[in-house]
Amino acid sequence: MAKPLSILFVTSEVIPFAKTGGLADVSAALPQVIRELGHDIRIIIPKYAAVSDRKFKIHDIKRLTDMPIPLGDRVLLGSVKSSFLTSIKSKVQVYFISNQELYCRSDLYIDPKTKQAWPDNDDRFMFFSRGVLETMLRLGWKPDIIHLNDWQTGLIAALLKTEYADEPLFKNTKVVFTVHNAAFQGVFPKESFPKTGLPPKVFKTDGLEFHGDINLMKAGLMYADAITTVSPTYAKEIRSGKEYGFGLEGVFKKKARRTVGILNGMDAQLWNPEVDTMIAQTYSAEKLDRKQENKKALCERFHLPYDQTIPLIGVVSRLAEQKGFDLIEEKLDELMKLDLQLVVLGSGEKRYEDLLTRAMKKYKKKVGVHIGFDEALAHLIEAGADMFLMPSKYEPCGLNQMYSLRYGTLPIVRSTGGLADTVEDLTDRPKVGTGFVFEKYNGRQMFDAVKRAIAAFEDKNCWQSAMKRAMQKDFSWDASAEKYIDLYKKILKQK
Ligand code: ADP
Ligand code: GLC
Repeated sequence: MAKPLSILFVTSEVIPFAKTGGLADVSAALPQVIRELGHDIRIIIPKYAAVSDRKFKIHDIKRLTDMPIPLGDRVLLGSVKSSFLTSIKSKVQVYFISNQELYCRSDLYIDPKTKQAWPDNDDRFMFFSRGVLETMLRLGWKPDIIHLNDWQTGLIAALLKTEYADEPLFKNTKVVFTVHNAAFQGVFPKESFPKTGLPPKVFKTDGLEFHGDINLMKAGLMYADAITTVSPTYAKEIRSGKEYGFGLEGVFKKKARRTVGILNGMDAQLWNPEVDTMIAQTYSAEKLDRKQENKKALCERFHLPYDQTIPLIGVVSRLAEQKGFDLIEEKLDELMKLDLQLVVLGSGEKRYEDLLTRAMKKYKKKVGVHIGFDEALAHLIEAGADMFLMPSKYEPCGLNQMYSLRYGTLPIVRSTGGLADTVEDLTDRPKVGTGFVFEKYNGRQMFDAVKRAIAAFEDKNCWQSAMKRAMQKDFSWDASAEKYIDLYKKILKQK
């Protein structure tokens, strides 16, 4: 094998330590596969309150205790701790940057009381960004690649090209910036600029200035050596207009040649119905009937009557506009006239939490809802439902539809981003289809797709062949991890 690469993977969430969405799944699975391929990859994240030292066997790194990190005219102290992400096949080192004042709170980005972003999110992630580089300097570990993820880490790209440009340790380091969701950009008022530690010349249109504010995702995009997004279709969508680019479409267009869409994979060990310990009964494409035990358990859990012949639709989602809940709201009463059941697990915006709670009360025998975050229940829904609904307005990649395919739970999706890249329509292509796809973001098209799914469900043979096809699709990380390695190697060759 050629010389192994050293890669620092910088992210704001990683399972099992901290998770709000798919970024956490990706940030654990991709580094583990890259490690299996023989590279030295390490992860660094903030140490939130939920990251328990005892539970995760986290220990202090003595020489990295109380590092002074400037934040505007203040100097805060950050300490670095360490643990490992271990699987049967690999062991990846994880560093945590801790600061009591900034990270010791219940939620990662949002104040659960106000449901608004923490007002000091600029401080929290600017401190983290600088802390990451200071950690590397003190460790003396020289990364070939620093792989950044989403706005929380974008500042690092700009720091490396300016304040830290003369550091010998980073002389040959290249930066990859991955966009997981262009809707969240880390926009802060220009008054926060001095806290970035960047020279004033960077506050400009082709720097991180954005309509008079600062935009940390833009910092990542402008200063990275390569940009990736999490599916090929999303890579095209984000430069197509405001609907997907959220004001950064011009930057995405400008950076199109440096941008590549690499489809996320799924953790094939964690999401495997043959060995999943969080479901009622394991099953496989060869033992499909055993899936029914999960449907029974799911109905029981939500106090719904169990009937093998009634299609049960599952949803596991952040309750956010992105995910298409206004379509569900618009069509709820019409959907309820159909012979189906609906089970939803999610948390997020209050208006959707209220909508779903009302629906459950109104349609007691047909709708089950759990508001909250529950990893085990997410697995049971994937295993127990017949279909999985994901009518997203936009979906950079989406992992749940891949989990659904793997669990033989046919997805009903809108044709956008990663959903378009992973699900094929069964009505159009009965021999290859694995789900139900609709084009336009409107209630009528979603409703038609659900009706098509219900009609197909009645043809048991056709349905079972589609389930088997879906379960045999390969969405493991192997192919995509190789694409990241190729990209790392390509940019390392560039001057
Ligand atoms: P996004 O990152 O946009 O939320 P993804 O489909 O990429 O969407 O990933 C979502 C991940 O979060 C999946 O692993 C899903 O199972 C999980 N998830 C979302 N909401 C919940 C919830 N309420 N409880 C448990 N898991 C959830
Ligand atoms: C974001 C996107 C989601 C994607 C995930 C992981 O949260 O909304 O579509 O799967 O990141 O890349």
